[in-house]
Amino acid sequence: MCGIVGYIGNKQAQPILLQGLRRLEYRGYDSAGLALWHDQCISRVRAVGKIERLAKKLKDQEIPGSMGIAHTRWATHGGVTEQNAHPHMALQGTLMLAHNGIIENYREIREKLGKDVSLTSETDSEVLAHLIGTHYNGDLRHAVMAALKHVRGTYGLVVMHVDHPDCIIGARMGSPLVVGVGEEEYFIASDATPILPYTKRVVYLDDGEIVELTREGIQTFTLADEVITKCVEEIEWDDEQAQKQGFDHFMLKEIHDQPQVFEDAIRGRLDMEEGTAHLGGLNMTEEEMRRVNRIILIACGTASYAGMVGKYAFERLSGIPTEVDVASEFRYRDPIIDENTLVFAISQSGETADTLAAIREAKRKGAFVRGIVNVVGSTIARETDGGTYIHAGPELAVASTKAYTNMVAVLLLYALQFGRSRRMTIATGQRFVRALQEIPQKMQMILDRKDTIFAIAEKYKDIPSCFFLGRGVNYVVALEGSLKLKEITYIHSEAYPGGEMKHGPIALLSPTFPVFAVMTKNQLYEKMRSNVEEIRARKAPLILVVTDGDDSAKEFTDDIMYVPPTMELLEPLLNTISLQLLAYYMAVSLDRDVDRPRNLAKSVTVE
Ligand code: M6R
Repeated sequence: MCGIVGYIGNKQAQPILLQGLRRLEYRGYDSAGLALWHDQCISRVRAVGKIERLAKKLKDQEIPGSMGIAHTRWATHGGVTEQNAHPHMALQGTLMLAHNGIIENYREIREKLGKDVSLTSETDSEVLAHLIGTHYNGDLRHAVMAALKHVRGTYGLVVMHVDHPDCIIGARMGSPLVVGVGEEEYFIASDATPILPYTKRVVYLDDGEIVELTREGIQTFTLADEVITKCVEEIEWDDEQAQKQGFDHFMLKEIHDQPQVFEDAIRGRLDMEEGTAHLGGLNMTEEEMRRVNRIILIACGTASYAGMVGKYAFERLSGIPTEVDVASEFRYRDPIIDENTLVFAISQSGETADTLAAIREAKRKGAFVRGIVNVVGSTIARETDGGTYIHAGPELAVASTKAYTNMVAVLLLYALQFGRSRRMTIATGQRFVRALQEIPQKMQMILDRKDTIFAIAEKYKDIPSCFFLGRGVNYVVALEGSLKLKEITYIHSEAYPGGEMKHGPIALLSPTFPVFAVMTKNQLYEKMRSNVEEIRARKAPLILVVTDGDDSAKEFTDDIMYVPPTMELLEPLLNTISLQLLAYYMAVSLDRDVDRPRNLAKSVTVE
């Protein structure tokens, strides 16, 4: 959680840092601060609340200087106060540190620091600043290295000192850091978004690495002080992609991105002639692929729902038994894994701590571990032995939308690839490929119907509670629809398989308890219709997602969201979009902070 940005160059650092913080705000936004070197001293300004509060403060006390560090916080240790906001200082304000992650042994370190060191915050990060301070004897990099030898836990950190007007030190262990390489200016940040307006040339730090940024260049070291040569990489995302592009919110923009980014996900990966998909990143020989007798999909939140669609697809297309595990549970349940198990870790950010821990566990047990990740160069992408980027582009709204559909897309491609290498006929494979190719246009059809969804959202926006129902893959659609609604409207909702209602939840139904049901035309249509009849009989308001042309749905309700037909396994790619829009419009009507819902952060890098 939290976001770091640092700058060293010849420009005024304050606007660059502030702009960088705004771009990182999705990572955490309960307080923020910055520190700048100028006129032989370092000035620090911090504020509780969103970045704009800090910006307002800085308007009255603009600080000069062309080197500085900044931080936006999502609290882990200590409350949301200005004292707990970063940067933290040591050595009477001559040393400043901004830190992401958790120092597990901070209490132990605190004790060792002794009574001479007095703390002003409740954070583990301030303890780390003082630890570095105790090792400082004029050489900042070595002080950081020496201090980190005593640290257990995770960190992405940046440090500066008043005696070093030409130096920022960064270090990484479990919390990402990217260095931007400009013309006589250098940047360091938790991800590339603050860097993109200035340069696309970046260096990704790996765990256990330290970087020294000066105006002349950067140098990377191991914690043991050995010099490392790192490659400068070119980022493909352009700055414009990271902006709202005229939409009111990132979430709405990202919902509308889906037809385009879905095409990006399947581009060059489909083979119509053979009726299959080719995903090079799998890095497995034919023989290894044939050996796979179990697939485990590990992820959190929305990514785990993408995994559930993947389970249906793998089992139906390839016949390989497939499980989905919520990553936070996986690592503690002693899962049965061997060298014939293929584990996919699914993650938008590629930094989710639980997912990361789960893949480490799977690797220890000898499984093939592959990533299905959005953020290029992220930790999960680099810690897996291969895998596939979902190419959804930057997803900045906290509520995941386009990353979900592209995760599903990539899982479907993998299921097709495994299916064709096992029991699936070429004709079925070709039908599947064709259906995938039609998806972007069908997604667009749903987006073009947003006025109907907006009207339904307006009608139901004041409900206190509701159910989402579906069967088969549409049960997953219900789960994801329910999560989206909860996340951004704060309306209580639960999702159930249609057949489960009569086993308990139906007791809640009444004329004031709405049910959103996905009843598209597939092999479970008749079953779902019966479940919808049961709801109708309890006079609960019904809102249906149904397939174009299904006029009989009007017997139940006028509140209908129509979707174009597709193959059953592909339905989540379309049906989910209606529910994303529904949640979005309800949240807007309720005047919620759509892109930054309360208590949530985009990238959950703590366990
Ligand atoms: O970055 P990841 O895909 O690993 O994140 C997993 C979840 O934290 C994430 O999907 C979360 O559930 C979103 N807020 C859903 O909208």
